[in-house]
Amino acid sequence: MLIKLPSTSDSKESDVTPESFYLSRRTLLGSSLAGLAVSAFPRIGRAQDAGMYPDVEAGTPPAWFAEKLPKTKWQAVNVQGESITPFNDATHYNNFYEFGTAKGDPAQYAGALKTEPWTVVVDGEVGKPGRYALEDFMKPYQLEERIYRLRCVEAWSMVIPWLGFPLSALLKQVEPTSKAKFIRFETLQDPKVMPGQRSGFALIEWPYVEGLRLDEAMNPLAILAVGMYGRELPNQNGAPLRLVVPWKYGFKSVKSIVRISLVEDQPKTTWQSIAADEYGFYANVNPQVDHPRWSQARERRLPSGLFSPNVRETQMFNGYGNEVASLYSGLDLRKNY
Ligand code: MTE
Repeated sequence: MLIKLPSTSDSKESDVTPESFYLSRRTLLGSSLAGLAVSAFPRIGRAQDAGMYPDVEAGTPPAWFAEKLPKTKWQAVNVQGESITPFNDATHYNNFYEFGTAKGDPAQYAGALKTEPWTVVVDGEVGKPGRYALEDFMKPYQLEERIYRLRCVEAWSMVIPWLGFPLSALLKQVEPTSKAKFIRFETLQDPKVMPGQRSGFALIEWPYVEGLRLDEAMNPLAILAVGMYGRELPNQNGAPLRLVVPWKYGFKSVKSIVRISLVEDQPKTTWQSIAADEYGFYANVNPQVDHPRWSQARERRLPSGLFSPNVRETQMFNGYGNEVASLYSGLDLRKNY
């Protein structure tokens, strides 16, 4: 995030108009998923099928997760014509600053995080506030597999098969009051197991906080994930509960959530607090608005190496414009980055 990127992504092609203008010509589907690759014949859930994705390290699923998995709606949303990132890359090239700033730190240190038992608090402007054991919190929801692109603000990207449920389903459940305008998420704060919270990396004021406008949170693409690659979330990817908002830069997708609050005012988010000129509240993927220190026109799709950098053009809203562009009509996306 604050680290200078290697030159492969310091592209000077930000002036080139990419495909993104197709947005203005297309009918925007608003809150529908109809434009996405939704599989006509969802796969029957075979939780125990280790071959679902290659090289997936088996975890130890909590009982509630194992029970839900066979009823999962597989490939509820897919990405057409793009390969799924190998499990090993998705789990060993991570940003989870609570465990350190190097990409390998989360895989190395997050094993110490105890995710059972786990409590989630829902509070603020809601008719039904509560403090839930995760298994109770999850009771009303069917799992769906959502295969989404993930585009980090640092200009790398992946394609990940998440398991989760729509955030809108939770919102319906907790009944936001008329005062609720934003949703605020908070990650666990536990310096005993999170070395990044003990270290001198004092720029971050813990806990890690992220937020969405309520209408963004209601968009069907926004999910709370509890798993990936057909298994529960590995700790380094934000176990046991994380947000996934695929049209925004990855830093919005807050990990290891312990508190969800409905609030009246726009929350003060972690990266905005550190460098407001570099990381905005909206953080919508936008190839036309560069980060002050690098271009956002292109991205490195992992796995990527010196001899096969696997660089591709970044798409407006990370390719989800049909589903989300209407949320921002009339908003200057250059100012509201
Ligand atoms: N959530 C917390 N709590 N702490 C973090 O440091 N990093 C964010 C996001 N969520 C982060 C976080 C960033 S910058 C990115 S790109 C994604 O997590 C990375 O998710 P991944 O490691 O599962 O790919």
